[in-house]
Order: sequence, then structure tokens, then C-alpha cells
Amino acid sequence: MLRSRVIGVGSYLPPRVVTNDDLAGMMDTSDEWIVQRTGIRERRWVEPDVATSDLALHASRAALEDAGIGPGDLDMIFVASLSPDHFFPGTACFLQAKLDVPAGVPAIDVRQQCSGFVYASAIADQFVRGGGARRVLVVGAEIHSKALDKTTEGRDVTVIFGDGAGAMVLEATEVAGAADPHVLSTHLHADGRFAEQLWVPAPGMALPGFIDHDLLDAGMHHPKMNGRVTYVHAVQRMAESVHETLAANGKSLEEIDLFLFHQANLRINEAVAKNLGIPAERVFNTIEWTGNTSAATIPIGMVEARAAGLLTPGDLVMGVVFGSGFTWASMLVRW
Ligand code: COA
Repeated sequence: MLRSRVIGVGSYLPPRVVTNDDLAGMMDTSDEWIVQRTGIRERRWVEPDVATSDLALHASRAALEDAGIGPGDLDMIFVASLSPDHFFPGTACFLQAKLDVPAGVPAIDVRQQCSGFVYASAIADQFVRGGGARRVLVVGAEIHSKALDKTTEGRDVTVIFGDGAGAMVLEATEVAGAADPHVLSTHLHADGRFAEQLWVPAPGMALPGFIDHDLLDAGMHHPKMNGRVTYVHAVQRMAESVHETLAANGKSLEEIDLFLFHQANLRINEAVAKNLGIPAERVFNTIEWTGNTSAATIPIGMVEARAAGLLTPGDLVMGVVFGSGFTWASMLVRW
């Protein structure tokens, strides 16, 4: 069977650490509130001259080095991001130029927000399975900090997001069975009825004038979130995704060595694990020091879990995400 396997991962977090106390100096919030409700203690913010494609570049270089290949070996690249460099063209094109991926190689943006990395991985996996690509770079990269409302009005959203990037290289491989390292399955879902529960309303072509002073004065360029609705749906949909992925592969919860859940709120992940009966030590979290890096959470988790000795060859690892759209998705990988 022709399948894709992970041959390299890399990540990058910008150096500037922003603590909860730093945020409390900008808005009416507190370390106690943020830790209690979300588990987040700090996150990273970029400097003004850094673009999303720059974070993607650092993570991509690390992933290519880890894979032992160069940009010339890639025949397709994906960037998943809700925070693109520009309205168009897509961030994958900017990354292609910066990374020096040869002209002619397709560069594809995926706009499924916090689910974007798993969506992009699923598409990449299908290209590999179908013989349309041999080596694919899949990146999740986000700069949230430039778009956040750093006043008390935006505190519910602003305290949970952070900047960062992660990348993964998939390579075509012939596998004999489930024990060989490869992507076993991917599962994608969406329900656009909830699009306006977590979104950035402006700028946009649904508006009379794309962007204007009234929209800016109303703060419509900042993310808006119905936190309660998002929380409830995240817990429900992530649990469904775990069951779906297990059933599709004939696996039990006990056979999964590591769960990489999306990093939106530590309490969401604790609730999912508790509801399903997953021991806490099999759920790897980075949110305490990264915040929610949206499309970057899964590849950052892969890098950090491996560095912590929790992800080793032969392990069965399940990635499960939920995000704006609403979208949710999962992937099962034999590492
Ligand atoms: N600091 C201090 N107080 C805050 C605050 C902050 N950063 N954010 C909100 N509050 C206040 C509210 O104003 C409200 O005050 P009130 O009771 O006087 O009106 C109170 O805290 C409770 O607000 P609420 O929004 O109901 O809190 P919550 O328990 O729902 O927690 C979230 C807020 C954002 C942590 C939670 O809803 C959540 O995590 N939702 C899911 C988010 C998510 O997953 N997003 C990304 C998906 S990819």
C-alpha cells in the first residue's frame, strides 16, 4: 500500500514571552483568572517586523533538517493559517519564495483555522496515496498578536492566543500493515452554521466597503468569540473525533500511546480526557507556555512531545483539533 509517513518535524516560537502579568498591565485581567479558566501562563508574541511566513520559514527549515532533505526535494507545500501575511496571495507563496522551494511546485493555503493543520495533512496524505506527490511540506503558522484587541473589551479572546509555527514533512512509503510508520487515517468535519461564533468580521467582501473607519472604530478587525458555545462544541466534537478515529482503525483507547489535542484551553482537554476516560499522562499539552497557536498546535506538540521523550518510533499518536468554522478534524499516525 502506498501511504505517507512523517519523516521530519520542526517548530518555532518567537523569542518574546508575554506573561499573564504582562497582559494584566494592558487590560483588566489577572494571572489567577487566566490560569484558572484556561491553564495558560504565558505565550509568545512577534516583533512588528515579523510576518507569518517568517515563522513558517523557521519551522520549515527545522522540519527539513530533521527529515534530512532540502527545499528542492519537495513537490508540494501547504500553509495552514488564519493569520495570512496578506489578503492575497496566500502565505504558502511567500513561504515558497523565502524557503527557496523551486518554481513550479504548487503552494497551497488552507483556511480552516485551528483545524487547518489536520485539514492540510489530510489533503497532503491523499495526494501521496494517489501517487500525485512524493514529499510534501505541511506547515501551521500563526501571528495572532497583531490582530488582538489589547483592551479590556477583548480580554476573553486576547488572553488565550499566542504566536508560533510548526511544520511536518510527509514522504511516500510502501507499507505492509498498521505496524509500519505512516498516516493511518484522517477525518475532517465542519458546520458552517456556527461560522459567526468565532470569527474576524472585517475586512471582507461580505461588507459594503471591505474595510472603513466605522468598522475599524467598532473593532470589527479583532477576533470575536462566543466562548461558552465554542467551549461546549469543542468538548463534544473532539470526543466524537476520538471515537470516530478509533472505530475507523479498529483500535481501542488503550492502544493510543499519545493524544495531541488542540491547544485552545487546558480545561477543554481535561474535560475531553475525563469524559473519555483517558489518563492525563497520555494527553500532551503545550498551552501553558504557548497559548493557542491555532493551526500550529499539532506540529508544535509533535516536536515538544518527541523532545520530552513521549513520542518515539512505533508509537500510535492521535491528533484531534477543533476551531472556527466550526471545523474539527483528527489524524492517526504510526510514528
Ligand atoms: N480576565 C478576567 N475576566 C474575564 C476575562 C479575562 N481575560 N475574560 C472574560 N472575563 C470575565 C467576563 O467578563 C465575565 O464577567 P461577568 O461575569 O462579570 O460578566 C466572566 O469573566 C465570565 O466570562 P465568560 O466568558 O462567561 O467566561 P468563561 O468561563 O466562559 O471562560 C473562556 C472564557 C474564553 C476561557 C472560555 O469560554 C473558553 O475557553 N471558551 C473556548 C475558547 C476556545 O476554545 N477558543 C478557541 C477555539 S479554537
